[in-house]
Amino acid sequence: MNTQSKIKWGIIGAGIIANKLAEALQLDPDSELVAVASRTPGKADAFAAKYSIRAADSYEALVQDPGIDVVYIATTHNFHHENAMLALRHGKNLLVEKAFTVNARQAREMVDLARQNNCFMMEAIWTRFLPSIGQVKELVASGRIGQLRHLSLTFGGFVPEHFRTRLITPELAGGVTLDMGIYPISFICHVLEELPSEIKSMARFGDTGVDELATYQFRFPSGRTAVVSTSHNLLMKTEAMLYGTLGYIDFPRFQQGQEFSLAIHNGSNQVQEVESFVVENHPNGFIYQVAEVVRCLRAGKLESNIIPLDESVAIMEVMDRMRAEWGFKYPFE
Ligand SMILES: NC(=O)c1ccc[n+]([C@@H]2O[C@H](COP(=O)([O-])OP(=O)(O)OC[C@H]3O[C@@H](n4cnc5c(N)ncnc54)[C@H](OP(=O)(O)O)[C@@H]3O)[C@@H](O)[C@H]2O)c1
Repeated sequence: MNTQSKIKWGIIGAGIIANKLAEALQLDPDSELVAVASRTPGKADAFAAKYSIRAADSYEALVQDPGIDVVYIATTHNFHHENAMLALRHGKNLLVEKAFTVNARQAREMVDLARQNNCFMMEAIWTRFLPSIGQVKELVASGRIGQLRHLSLTFGGFVPEHFRTRLITPELAGGVTLDMGIYPISFICHVLEELPSEIKSMARFGDTGVDELATYQFRFPSGRTAVVSTSHNLLMKTEAMLYGTLGYIDFPRFQQGQEFSLAIHNGSNQVQEVESFVVENHPNGFIYQVAEVVRCLRAGKLESNIIPLDESVAIMEVMDRMRAEWGFKYPFE
């Protein structure tokens, strides 16, 4: 790859979220979207016409195209592993939509092949790259809330109609945990920089048999704890609360919010000082993960420090453990 010229992107799966990445690529001066592939007749042509790019005849044709440096996998969860393995066998670098895979076994296989073939790979957990999330993490590190002891996150709402089929269909690996629960889990692990050692969880299942509401409790090796509630068919106040020994941070809409506040109580029951913060994120928050992929490829890196591959695997293990607690398997597992 000539690292001085623009990074050439291809997309597998011409669905809803592929459009958001395509728009982000148009905004990135170092990237160029060149081709898309779809298994649905006509969909690649329509997508290609919209972005003035090539429509590949098939996923196979796209991954064989020597003019593509990195492939974005934008299919439903159940296909990520199959699509990624195909692309990796052809030596393609990858950005893989969240959830990375359906389970940790699939994630490990992908990571092994990426390492064997010297391919860059990253989970598209775009929120980790947002400036606002970076600032919250810095605020924690500054020590103003003292020692961070506990996090409490809620993330729920009535899922928009266009996402509904994917979310409720077991064959597409739907369910709130893989689709939405991944955000609070990833946020907590990112802020704490450790993975849960103890996990307790419960889920409520909808008519189609996938989890529609779930609640998780984590304890970390440091002794810190976290609780999460998430649902795709119940409106919840989407928020992250980060409690420290001297104060707390209230971060509404934590998965993409721009405003948060700091309350200092200095170890008393009275809040003594409140400070508000506004950190602007670009309206298309995908631009930051695109920039990270470009940075990594140009630096010859095979993974990102912000979401290392071992952490993507470990987070899949967390979700496997919770699904095992509920006795929940997907039909193809
Ligand atoms: N980062 C975010 O904010 C965000 C938001 C929403 C979704 N996502 C993630 O993005 C991925 C795709 O989500 P999406 O909402 O864009 O999905 P989607 O539009 O419903 O589907 C994406 C693609 O998956 C394939 N597909 C979908 N349903 C299928 C079926 N029944 N049978 C065979 N193939 C099927 C199709 O590929 P072809 O075009 O090849 O036919 C389709 O174009 C998921 O991993 C999801 O979690 C991320």
